[in-house]
Amino acid sequence: MKINGKPYTSIWDEGETSPRVYIIDQRPLPHRFEVEELDSLESCATAIREMHLRGAPLIGVAAAYGMYLAAREAPLKNWREHMLQAAQQLLNTRPTAVDLTKAIEQQKQVLTQVKNFSNLVSAHLAKAREIRKQSIEQCRRIGKHGLSLLRKLSAKKKGQTLNILTHCNAGWLACVDYGTALAPIYAAFDSGLKVHVWVDETRPRNQGARLTAFELGQHGIPHTVIADNTGGHLMQHGMVDLVLVGSDRTTRTGDVANKIGTYLKALAAYDNHIPFYVALPASSIDFSITDGFRQIPIEERSESEIHYLQGKNPGNGQLQSIRLTPDLSPASNFSFDLTPARLVTGLITERGICTASEKGILKLFPEKN
Ligand code: MRU
Repeated sequence: MKINGKPYTSIWDEGETSPRVYIIDQRPLPHRFEVEELDSLESCATAIREMHLRGAPLIGVAAAYGMYLAAREAPLKNWREHMLQAAQQLLNTRPTAVDLTKAIEQQKQVLTQVKNFSNLVSAHLAKAREIRKQSIEQCRRIGKHGLSLLRKLSAKKKGQTLNILTHCNAGWLACVDYGTALAPIYAAFDSGLKVHVWVDETRPRNQGARLTAFELGQHGIPHTVIADNTGGHLMQHGMVDLVLVGSDRTTRTGDVANKIGTYLKALAAYDNHIPFYVALPASSIDFSITDGFRQIPIEERSESEIHYLQGKNPGNGQLQSIRLTPDLSPASNFSFDLTPARLVTGLITERGICTASEKGILKLFPEKN
């Protein structure tokens, strides 16, 4: 996708023998565009934990590159042990998105096949590149399948503007390219459908207000940022045709963990008979679990994210942070919530659209049966 007309992906490597790894630092967006080099295992783990990058698919790809960076630092003695410690360090960064666990599992599998120290770096680099490429292709296909759904909804409205509500940022910045929830919207817009996106600001990190609005704006897609509490009102007044979100981890039975606040949108959509779809690649499906409430770990982040707002001072253009809450008030910051499968109309995956149920999911992914 493009920023100021120049094509970018959210993570890439450059060079042949020992390529350097770069990401778009998402923290200063939308006010400042900065590229960061991840030059060590430590810098990669910090970037994931401190959300220089975020979004389930991107976290997975970044972790895969983290293993390549760890391989570059591996000592001749104990290199296998070093790699296993690196895997654990990366696994500890963020608990909810399953893409991270899966990417690390794949890299651990690579490790078991590496016989000589001299092959370590190239083997982990090749896997990281493969996972990155796969992620791009998965998102491209999600866009294609989601487009067929949007076409149907648009036809029902006789070509009038389709109003889509989204939560958090599940665009290309959260992936490598295209996005998950935003991929069908980009495809629809590019194919000439009339779309407008309601963008939940998504407190406390404001991924919607800062990142989704930025992405959509860069692509020229009509959108409006709304406070998180506005969706229900819009739905009651017929101003939303579809809710489309991403997922950080979905069970094989279709329970969806996504950014905190997603559940409330699903409830409101259900009450107002509005379709609620989740777009996600197979890398975000945890085929090993069946009960989202009991089995998906929900990340709790620092309370400072609730206390402080980050933004641009309109007076001097500087980025700054301001305290919102009383100095002595405590805050609690659950980062994700669980939307039960019964509230989800369907899942849009790289293999097509299915019901949010074990039967539906396994029909698309029979090899997981
Ligand atoms: O905490 P984040 O910003 O990493 O969470 C990401 C999300 O919850 C997004 O909504 C997204 O849907 C999942 S990744 C495409």
